Amino acid sequence: MKQKLLGRPVALLSLLTMAFLLFSFIVTEEKRSDVPHTSFRPGERWTDTDGVHINAHGGGILRHQNTYYWFGEHKVEGRKGNLALVGVQCYSSTDLYNWKNEGVALSVSDDPDADIAKGCVLERPKVIYNAQTQKFIMYFHLELKGKGYSAARVGIAVSDQATGPYTFIRSLRPNAGYWPENMTAAQRTSRLSTADFPESWTSEWRQAVKEGLFVRRDWEGGQMSRDMTLFVDDDGKAYHIFASEENLTLHIAELTQDYLDYTSRYIRLAPGGHNEAPAIFKKGGKYFLITSGCTGWAPNAARLHVAQSIWGPWTEYPNPCVGTGAELTFHSQSTFILPVAGKKDAFIFMADRWTPQNPIDGRYVWLPILFEKDLPVLKWSDEWTLDVFDQTQN
Ligand code: GAL
Repeated sequence: MKQKLLGRPVALLSLLTMAFLLFSFIVTEEKRSDVPHTSFRPGERWTDTDGVHINAHGGGILRHQNTYYWFGEHKVEGRKGNLALVGVQCYSSTDLYNWKNEGVALSVSDDPDADIAKGCVLERPKVIYNAQTQKFIMYFHLELKGKGYSAARVGIAVSDQATGPYTFIRSLRPNAGYWPENMTAAQRTSRLSTADFPESWTSEWRQAVKEGLFVRRDWEGGQMSRDMTLFVDDDGKAYHIFASEENLTLHIAELTQDYLDYTSRYIRLAPGGHNEAPAIFKKGGKYFLITSGCTGWAPNAARLHVAQSIWGPWTEYPNPCVGTGAELTFHSQSTFILPVAGKKDAFIFMADRWTPQNPIDGRYVWLPILFEKDLPVLKWSDEWTLDVFDQTQN
């Protein structure tokens, strides 16, 4: 009896202590999200200046007049699946840690017949600025409503302002009626067609894919275009880099001067290599392309391709990630590589940690690109700041 009497206040006290601890945890967490961020914390919730987790998945960044603009896929709260119900979201920042929500840059359309009808799939938007026309140009991967991933198109939109609103111009499959520069005459004229391969993934089929089976199939209607990025070179020329040929081969296609069309000059990169999620940067005159393998939302090991010219030849190097988690790109998939303004050879690898059960909760994995023997290296870091770029690298 005595023991019981003694037990009650003790139990009550521990209950109160627990409640207090929980309360202070919640308060600290809330405060934490409100205070300005002073570091990157890959994989954690990343709140914008309103305290809301940033909603810009599969994104890319444009720097214009000292401001960074982050564009990405908007995902809807509590909604499983990947249909675009809102559009492309834009955030702005001057320090890369703190992002202000600038709202919807490109809205999906209420017209059910529009290419970008609400309920389409709109992925991996990227924006570049054309100095000549003073227009902001957005490219994205588009899948038409109700057609799964079969359309494999690119969408193009344009705006007079970085934050939008962007006007959708058209969607297409690139380079209809043109051959890739690095496809031989024999490959162009080969009579082998997909009908000759009732079974995929055999060694004969793989060889035929390498030799342009799908390029020939899609020659007339245009090449498939899924995961993608844009790149503007030092000379102002822009390129669209995308997963083509049933995601088996990447294409690099040159854009016209106004960035609104293709010049028809393009190459195949790593034929049959099954790369997607391309992210590119240029350092010391060389081009570095980081990609992933094709396992949908599930992460896999990153790949690295290097070239002296954007037109190749491209050489594959081992996974640039090292250390624990390297085999799964630290549970993420590349989306963009951002050059940091004002710092020499400073690049941020941007990736998505997808959460398909609740896509809006997808996390961002940003890591500094380090260099070892002139090759990019990615190492996990729980927390880091831009100061890492001031330390001497070899
Ligand atoms: C991934 C791709 C994503 C998205 C997803 C859909 O492979 O990188 O952007 O398309 O597949 O399953």
